[in-house]
Amino acid sequence: LASIEFDLTKVQEGQQVVIKWQGKPVFVRYRTPAELQKVIADDHAPDLKQPQTDAERTKPGHEKYLVVIGSCTHLGCVPTFGAGDYGGWFCPCHGSHYDASGRIRKGPAPLNLVVPEYDYLSNTRVKIG
Ligand code: FES
Repeated sequence: LASIEFDLTKVQEGQQVVIKWQGKPVFVRYRTPAELQKVIADDHAPDLKQPQTDAERTKPGHEKYLVVIGSCTHLGCVPTFGAGDYGGWFCPCHGSHYDASGRIRKGPAPLNLVVPEYDYLSNTRVKIG
């Protein structure tokens, strides 16, 4: 399938749902207000290897949701939700730490978790791909 639709009411605040798209896991994360505040505060943190603001990784008006490909940019393991030093994801394969915006903060991964092409069809429905 080239694209898939996802119903955002299936993901609870503070949680993520993992869906499959083109054979890869996609993480759809509903971030808490505290997580959102933290990632925005870190938009210009000096340890960002691939500097991007959180706004560049989300869609206007839908900032609480983050959609990323669940594949570590080091060697492709699936990072663990809610772990690591930055409260985002931790990749157990070689120790990469991502924040709740999916930005690489520490460890061997060179790049942020990839944001796929996606669009909002409504407030509660996204089309990925
Ligand atoms: Fe994730 Fe190596 S594959 S740190």
